[in-house]
Amino acid sequence: MSNHIIIKNRLEKFNKKIKVSSDKSISIRSVLLASQAVGVSKISNLLESEDVLSALKSIKRLGINYTKKSNNYFIEGFGINGFSAKKNVIINAGNSGTLARLILGLLVKSKFKVKLIGDKSLSKRDFSRVIKPLKLFGANINGNKNCLPIEISGSSFLRPIIYNESIGSAQVKSCIIFSALNTPGKTIINSKKSRNHTELLLKYLGYPIKVQERGEIDIITIEGLKQFRAFNYRVPGDISSASFFIVLTLLSKKSQLIIKNVNVNESRIGILKILNIMGAGIKLRNKKIYNGEKIADIHIKSKKNLKSVNCSSRLNSSTIDEFLIIFLVAAKAKGISKFKDLGEMNKKESKRLDLGIKFLKSIGVKVIRYKDDINIYGNPNLLLSKSFEIKDFLKDHRIFFLSCIAALTLGGKWKINDKNSANTSFPNFLKILKKLGAKII
Ligand code: S3P
Repeated sequence: MSNHIIIKNRLEKFNKKIKVSSDKSISIRSVLLASQAVGVSKISNLLESEDVLSALKSIKRLGINYTKKSNNYFIEGFGINGFSAKKNVIINAGNSGTLARLILGLLVKSKFKVKLIGDKSLSKRDFSRVIKPLKLFGANINGNKNCLPIEISGSSFLRPIIYNESIGSAQVKSCIIFSALNTPGKTIINSKKSRNHTELLLKYLGYPIKVQERGEIDIITIEGLKQFRAFNYRVPGDISSASFFIVLTLLSKKSQLIIKNVNVNESRIGILKILNIMGAGIKLRNKKIYNGEKIADIHIKSKKNLKSVNCSSRLNSSTIDEFLIIFLVAAKAKGISKFKDLGEMNKKESKRLDLGIKFLKSIGVKVIRYKDDINIYGNPNLLLSKSFEIKDFLKDHRIFFLSCIAALTLGGKWKINDKNSANTSFPNFLKILKKLGAKII
């Protein structure tokens, strides 16, 4: 079977209700925390993508059994540090930075040695951001020049730390929280704001974790070595996956879309704020709370007169995975859109800032870059008719999705490689596009 797709037509008008895939960040966290609970947890609506399957396979190698019945996963944990293995273990995080960084926090006290590996893209990513705090806890951890493979073996001399997390990385913060679970005493993180699913999930479980907000900083206090019981959890839809359909609707003609049950946690909805500043008029309806997380249906209509945005870097952390698709809206908006301080984008599954700019230039959009700031010169009349081929993107799922949405809204004849990259986060992506009427070969 070929691993590319061809799109030759823009998507005609549609008016539909859809569900997108379940949230990847919350799925991985719920699997990892279920592996540390006492008893059998039930997780429904878990995302069945490669990153989450890597999490399930990893806990299995660490002695945790799970079964699946209809839409539910049952995971049997033996408490904090309840992993077991007869000898040293290798675990493979595949493409997932979240899994790799978070699971290291759970292994600081393990009774055996674990070697963590990953795919080509993950093996290029920097792990110094988690190795540094884990060493302060007293962990025995060795990376190959701060990259994978990493070996970690349990330390019996763990001590709590006070740590300033200044990147605004939820992966680093969550790794520290997971390590704190295994460490006696109180760990304190002064954390630049980032997605807070780990904190919300632990609060939902009744774990002693406290968060005090001080402007752009969250002061998080975690008490170590408190057991928590198995739990039931339902994973909501992923705003990062929804973002591609939001933009598809905005940039299509006379279309409307409702996306059901999406997680709209404040720390994730930068995209909605930015697009609404640009005049998108996106509405949230049917708001509710699932297990401590905010959920809503997202209502979107096509919009003709979008305007540029001067984006505050305060929104960067809550928008980090959505900038690529926002750049496409900026390319169709009237005026010059400005984005600042986007260096973190280059530390993702691919160098997304570099590739995003290359992508925009290849479709004729003027972009000026100064270090990590970019200005995008929008053109509301932008339409394409030439042929394009998208390759060399390190199989980054979000670049694949961006290319499909560009093809369906701007026109042209597109060959887009590595369609299997969609399986990382959103296996049903092409199926839903087809349901909306997209012709994809
Ligand atoms: C994630 C955090 C973000 C994000 C990633 C998922 C998480 O990374 O880009 O896709 O689940 O914690 P950083 O924490 O490195 O910013």
